[in-house]
Amino acid sequence: MSQLFGKNSKGEEVYIYTLKNESGMMVRFLNLGATVHELFVPGKDGQSVQVSAIYDDPLSYERETTYFGAIVAPYANRISDAKFEIDGQIYETDANNNENSLHSGINGIAKKIWTVKEQTENKIVFTYDAKDLEQGFPGNIHYEVTYEVTEKNELSISYYALSDKKTTINMTNHTYFNLAGALSGSVEGQELWIKASHYTPVKDAKAIPTGDIAPVDGTPFDFREAKAIGRDIRQDFDQLVYGQGYDHNFAIDKASVGFEKIATAYAQETGIQMDVWTDCIGVQLYTGNFMAGQKGPNEHTYVKHGAFCLETQYFPNAINETNFVCPITEANVPYETRTVYAFSVR
Ligand code: GLA
Repeated sequence: MSQLFGKNSKGEEVYIYTLKNESGMMVRFLNLGATVHELFVPGKDGQSVQVSAIYDDPLSYERETTYFGAIVAPYANRISDAKFEIDGQIYETDANNNENSLHSGINGIAKKIWTVKEQTENKIVFTYDAKDLEQGFPGNIHYEVTYEVTEKNELSISYYALSDKKTTINMTNHTYFNLAGALSGSVEGQELWIKASHYTPVKDAKAIPTGDIAPVDGTPFDFREAKAIGRDIRQDFDQLVYGQGYDHNFAIDKASVGFEKIATAYAQETGIQMDVWTDCIGVQLYTGNFMAGQKGPNEHTYVKHGAFCLETQYFPNAINETNFVCPITEANVPYETRTVYAFSVR
């Protein structure tokens, strides 16, 4: 159930683990970053379509700053000035994105080798134990990420973490989806619906939120009725100019505190629809704005907007932003969230 993929720069072995169901779905994972590697889902006319942007060697996964498919921990997206305060104590993490921290630093947990605790036909559990102050974050933190491929063609991701000190945790998965096929080019024609009447605008191109939770009404950020991802992407609207496309957190219109459907994407070419379900309060829509020239399998060159990400999360920089729900995890209290990417054909 596992095969050698290659070695990382430290000479550690990187393996591919394969899960399958009886309904035509097959997903391959890497122990490097507990990464979603290949994601085959059924499309129309009986085809099997690989919908996740990948590299074909471990060194590219390690070197590139795209975070293809990786689990991001402890803290997804940005932390301003790479600093935060908990109970009067200042903690510093890596400033790897201008003066700010992105995805917990360049050589964070997303680039580490995880342990496989358990694997069955359709389920795999990856664990990682971070030491106190690893990447600057307080607490010895035990992480467990459980991936399941269900018979309903869902990829379910359960996130669990337990820290022995009060800390901040905001985990996500960074899969880049292209529902017309990972190597099919721009996703601008693919449709997207997001259940959000608000989003969090950013100050400038460095993408730290202003702290506002602004209405999407009358802006290119209104995905409350499904529209092509590229329909408004080139509008002369500051927020789109900063990130060269969408790279923003949406504040989900939660019906309750529970688990619910928050987004749907669709590619007409393959008929593949993907519904996103989560219990998180935010989702980052990132339209592959910095995909440009990275090499995929068979010498494929990824193009700008060659995929989209829907990263479920707390809001970016929430640990420093009083207007946002603060992602504090108390000592010895489990952090748990769940996100499901459900595939169907229409
Ligand atoms: C997130 C960020 C983007 C970009 C990608 C990875 O989505 O918000 O700015 O860094 O990750 O490249």
